[in-house]
Amino acid sequence: MGEHRAQNWTPTSWRQKPIQQVPDYPDAAALAATEAQLESFPPLVFAGEARRLKKALANVADGNGFLLQGGDCAESFAEHGADTIRDFFRAFLQMAVVLTFGAQQPVVKVGRIAGQFAKPRSSNVERQGDVELPSYRGDIINGIEFTSEARIPNPERQLMAYRQSAATLNLLRAFAMGGYANLENVHQWMLGFVKDSPQAERYRKLADRISETMDFMKAIGITSENNPSLRETDFFTSHEALLLGYEQALTRVDSTSGDWYATSGHMIWIGDRTRQADHAHVEYCRGIKNPIGLKCGPSLTADGLLELIDLLNPANEAGRLTLICRFGHDKVAEHLPRLIRAVEREGKKVVWSCDPMHGNTITLNSYKTRPFERILNEVESFFQIHRSEGTHPGGIHIEMTGKDVTECTGGARALSGADLGDRYHTHCDPRLNADQALELAFLLAERMKGGRDEKKLVVNG
Ligand code: TRP
Ligand code: MN
Repeated sequence: MGEHRAQNWTPTSWRQKPIQQVPDYPDAAALAATEAQLESFPPLVFAGEARRLKKALANVADGNGFLLQGGDCAESFAEHGADTIRDFFRAFLQMAVVLTFGAQQPVVKVGRIAGQFAKPRSSNVERQGDVELPSYRGDIINGIEFTSEARIPNPERQLMAYRQSAATLNLLRAFAMGGYANLENVHQWMLGFVKDSPQAERYRKLADRISETMDFMKAIGITSENNPSLRETDFFTSHEALLLGYEQALTRVDSTSGDWYATSGHMIWIGDRTRQADHAHVEYCRGIKNPIGLKCGPSLTADGLLELIDLLNPANEAGRLTLICRFGHDKVAEHLPRLIRAVEREGKKVVWSCDPMHGNTITLNSYKTRPFERILNEVESFFQIHRSEGTHPGGIHIEMTGKDVTECTGGARALSGADLGDRYHTHCDPRLNADQALELAFLLAERMKGGRDEKKLVVNG
C-alpha cells in the first residue's frame, strides 16, 4: 500500500493548480472558517469500507461482477425526507436483484447519494428575461431560487451538506443491515412492479424465474433467518468530487495503512469538464486511495485517457479506476471502441461503466429531458461494443429517483413531452422515475441473459 503513495502530493497540493468550476465566495475568511470546522468533524465513511468497495470493483474489472451506480443528479436540502431516501433505496434494490439474476454475478451497489450536492455548470450565469444572475451550482454552494441573494455562494451550506450526508448515510446503513434490504422483501416489491406494469407480460418471464429460485432456496432451508447474506447487503456512497475545499477538509489519514482517504463518501468521481491532467481535480484525486471514477465524454482522446490512467492509477491496481462513459446514443459507436482498444493494448485494469444519461439530454417544451429509448439504446450499444471487443461491460451509472416524477420521456407508460410539466422536480438534470429505472434493469437483464446463451452456443457448438 504505502509504497504506491503519490509523489509530491498533499491534501492541499491541488491549490497550486489551475481549476475549473470554482464558486466565487465573497467572504474568504468565512470560507476558511467553515473548512476548518469541517476538518474537525468526524469522517463520514471509514477507509476499510472504501477498501472493501475497491476489492468488489476489482472483481468487476476482472469480469466477475457488475456495478450498479445511481441516484439523484443533485441532492437537495428541500427534499431531505426519510421517504425520499427510502423510495430511492427501494427502487435501487429492486434493480439490483433483477441485474444480479440477469448477470448471474454479484452486483456492486453504489448510490449517487449522501454527498452528491455540487454541480458543474456550462455557464457561469443564468439569464431569465432581462435579469442575469450567477448560475445555481448545487445546494452545497448556493440556492436554486432565482434571486441575487440565493445565488451568492454561502460556506455555511457546506456544513448543512455534511450533516445531511451523515443523516442520509445513517438511514441507508440501517436499511442495508437492519432488515429492510431483505431479499424476500425486495422480491415481493419487484413482483408488485411487474403486476402493475403495462409491460407485465414481457417482464413476468424473468420475474417468475427469480420466484422459482427463491422457492427452491426456501425448500432446501436457505432463508433470511439462518442466512444473513439474504437479509443484508453492502451499499456504498459516491459523488462527484467537485468542491475541493470540502473534499480536502474531509481527507484523512487512515491509521491502519497510513494512506490518505477521502472520507466524504466511499467512491468519488472526476467530471468530464474537470478532468484536465494538469488541473486541480485530477491532482486531488491522484493522492487519495479510494476507488475513483472518471467521466469519459466525446472529447477524450485515447492518449489523453492513457495519461489520466497513469496519473490516477500508476500501480494499475484493479478496482481503483472506473471509466464512466457518457457519449450519447449516437456517438458511443464512434468513441468507445478507440478507448477500449487503447486500454487493452496497454494492459490497463479498469471497470467499464456506461452513463447513458448525460449524452442524451434534449430540450422539449422548454424542459430538459431524456428519451428513455435513447438511454436504453446507449446501454445496448455499450454492451454490444464490449461483446465485439471481447471486454467486460462492467456497469451502469444512472440518474434516478424512487419517486414517480415526469422528467424523462418514454418507458412502458409512454410519458410524452406534454406530461413533463406534471411532476418535474429535479434540481438539475432529468432523472428516470422508479418505474423507468426498474424497466431499464429488466431490459438489461434480458440482454445479459441473451449474451450468456450466445456464449454457451459458441462454446458448445
Ligand atoms: N447480500 C446479497 C447481495 O447484496 C443478497 C441480497 C440481500 C440482495 N438483499 C438484497 C441483493 C437486495 C440485491 C438486493 O447481493
Ligand atoms: Mn447530471
